[in-house]
Amino acid sequence: MPNEPNSPAKREPGAGRLGSFVQTQDNCPVSSYPSHRSHSSHASLRPHRLTPRPYRTMIGPPMEQKSVNILGIETSCDETAAAVVANGREVRSSVVASQTKLHEKYGGVVPEIASRAHIEKIYPVITEALERAGVGKDGIDAIAVANQPGLTIALVVGVTAAKTLSFMWGKPLVAINHLHAHLQSAMLTEESLELPAVALIVSGGHTCLYEARSPLELRLLGTTIDDAAGEAFDKVATILKLPYPGGPVIERIGKQGDPKAIDFPRSMLEKGSLDFSFSGLKTAVLYHCRGQDMNGQDKVDSMTEQQIADIAASFQGAVIDVLVKKTKRAAEKIGARTILMGGGVAANGTLREAMQKMAEKSRPPRRLLVAPKQYCTDNAVMVASLAYYKYQAGLFAPLTLEPSSTG
Ligand code: KG4
Ligand code: ZN
Repeated sequence: MPNEPNSPAKREPGAGRLGSFVQTQDNCPVSSYPSHRSHSSHASLRPHRLTPRPYRTMIGPPMEQKSVNILGIETSCDETAAAVVANGREVRSSVVASQTKLHEKYGGVVPEIASRAHIEKIYPVITEALERAGVGKDGIDAIAVANQPGLTIALVVGVTAAKTLSFMWGKPLVAINHLHAHLQSAMLTEESLELPAVALIVSGGHTCLYEARSPLELRLLGTTIDDAAGEAFDKVATILKLPYPGGPVIERIGKQGDPKAIDFPRSMLEKGSLDFSFSGLKTAVLYHCRGQDMNGQDKVDSMTEQQIADIAASFQGAVIDVLVKKTKRAAEKIGARTILMGGGVAANGTLREAMQKMAEKSRPPRRLLVAPKQYCTDNAVMVASLAYYKYQAGLFAPLTLEPSSTG
C-alpha cells in the first residue's frame, strides 16, 4: 500500500482546547455541515512551527460539557467494526467481526472476499454496536468512518454505510484516516499528554513514524520503503508454514526460541534515516529455510520444533531491534517527551517490553503509551475516538466522501 505524503501539518488559530489543532495532511474533503461550525477560518491557517516546544495538553471535554456520542465505522481491511464512543474516550460499545477464518487458507487478505464479508456484516455489526451502547439515532451526534488508507473495495462498504446513516439521520459525517486512528488508541485512556510525542504505527499494511503535536496534528517522519512490519510477520509465518495472521503465532512460538540463534540482518538504511525496510529480513528467513538463492530444498518440514522456534524468535528479535532503534532515533531528533505506539504489531509483548526499556533508559526518561491490546488491531473505537476531536474542530466531510487506498 502506498504511504502517506510528507506534508506539513497546519494550525488553526482560535478554536477551543484540543480542537485548536486541525489536521490538514489527510486530504479528506471537508465541508461545513448545517448547524455546525464552519471552518472558514482555514483561510487564516498559519504554517506549522517546526521548532519543538514541549507542552502538556489536556484530552477530553471540560467537565460541564454535554456528552458527544460518535458512532465509528471501520472496514479498511479484514475486520468489520462499529463502536459508540462518548467524548472521545468513554467506550459505550465496540463490535468487531473478524474475517481471519475466511482469509487463513490464502495466507493473507483477499480483497474481494473481504469486501463481500463487509457487505454481509456491516448492518448487523452497526445494529449491535448501537444496541450495546443503548442509543438510537437521537443519541448519536455524528457518524465517523475510516475512509483511507486501506483496500478501496473494503473501505467503500463502511463509507457507503456511514454516508447513508449521515443522510438519513441528518447527522454530520466525519472522515478519519485509519493510521491516525491507530495512534488515537494509544491516547484513549490518557488525561494529559506531554508533547511533542513520537508516534510509531506498526500494522499489517504500514510502518510509520510521526511527530505528534496533538491527536490531529501529525507529521510523517519516516515510513517503510517496502514491506510493513506486520506484513513481514505474516510472510515469515507462511514460509514457516504457520497460520495467518503470522504475528500472534510467531510471538507464541518464539517464546520457546532463542532470539540470538540466527543473526538475521537489521536494515537501518542510511545514517540518520527514519525509514524502514523489512523485505531483506524476510528474504534472509526464506534463504535460511530454502537455501541461498532458493536453490536448496525447503527444509521447514524436516525442522524440529526448536529450530522453528529459534527462527521465529530470531526474526522477531531483528524486527523489534529495528523498530526500537528507529523510534529512539526519532524521539531524540524531535525531543519527544512521550512515545506512542499503535497498530496490530503493537500487541506484541516482546516489542512492548523492549520499547518500555528503551523509554525508561532514555535521558531524560520518556513516557511510553501503547494502545490497550484489544485496540491494537483494527477496531472502530479508535475511529470514533479520533472523530471527537474533528467534531470539536468542526471538521466534517461532505456526502460525496470517497474511499482512498492511500493516506
Ligand atoms: O492493525 P492491523 O489489525 O491491520 C492493519 O491495519 O494492517 O494489523 C494486523 C497485523 C498483522 O500483520 C498481524 O500479523 C500483526 O498485525 N499482529 C502482530 C501481533 N498481533 C497482530 N504482529 C506481531 N505480534 C503480535 N502479537
Ligand atoms: Zn489497521
